[in-house]
Amino acid sequence: MQCAAATVLIIALTTPVVAQEANGDAEEGEAIFDRQCAFCHVIQDEEGEVIAGRDGGSGPNLFGVIGSAPGSRYDEFAYSDSLVAYGETGVTWGVANLVSFVQNPTGHLRDALEDSGARSDMSYKLRGEQDALDIQAYLARFAVEKTAPEGETGTSAAENDVSGANHSEKP
Ligand code: HEC
Repeated sequence: MQCAAATVLIIALTTPVVAQEANGDAEEGEAIFDRQCAFCHVIQDEEGEVIAGRDGGSGPNLFGVIGSAPGSRYDEFAYSDSLVAYGETGVTWGVANLVSFVQNPTGHLRDALEDSGARSDMSYKLRGEQDALDIQAYLARFAVEKTAPEGETGTSAAENDVSGANHSEKP
């Protein structure tokens, strides 16, 4: 898994956001988000503007999720221990792991952490690989563009960004 994680990181570092979109249709992804994800997730930018979804509070804000470490972005959200542990392995969200996670969050974390007791708090499963690719293309519109140089994931750009997001509403 270390290998796959490194590959994802390299892809994230070398592939421009536009190229990632080639795998999926962002317009389709937007429709899927509205139908299937918006109930739990909001996409709210650093100025506090809600781009999509509702701030229902049951799922974390997905603004900037692509390119960030899993479970790391919003201090005010109580991510599961497993999701945080996954982020601490040094991975960032990119095409391959996001497409896998949204289709089976707990299954993805179990495989990635090699821990059959791992569990994600996201109980929802998106059905279908193409839908997952489309949603990834949509979320890539709100990607974090600054990714940490390889080997420096401990002090990631995502962490620096959190300070800018602190003014967003507490649940
Ligand atoms: C029933 C509520 C619910 C629905 C519906 C839902 N999610 Fe989630 N999602 C969550 C929760 C809760 C978490 C936090 C998981 C954890 O901490 O293990 C999460 C986490 C995530 C994460 C990781 C966030 C991070 O910062 O690492 C992504 C990506 C994500 N969801 C995408 C989606 C997408 C895409 C959809 C629609 C197909 C969706 N979710 C539908 C509740 C939901």
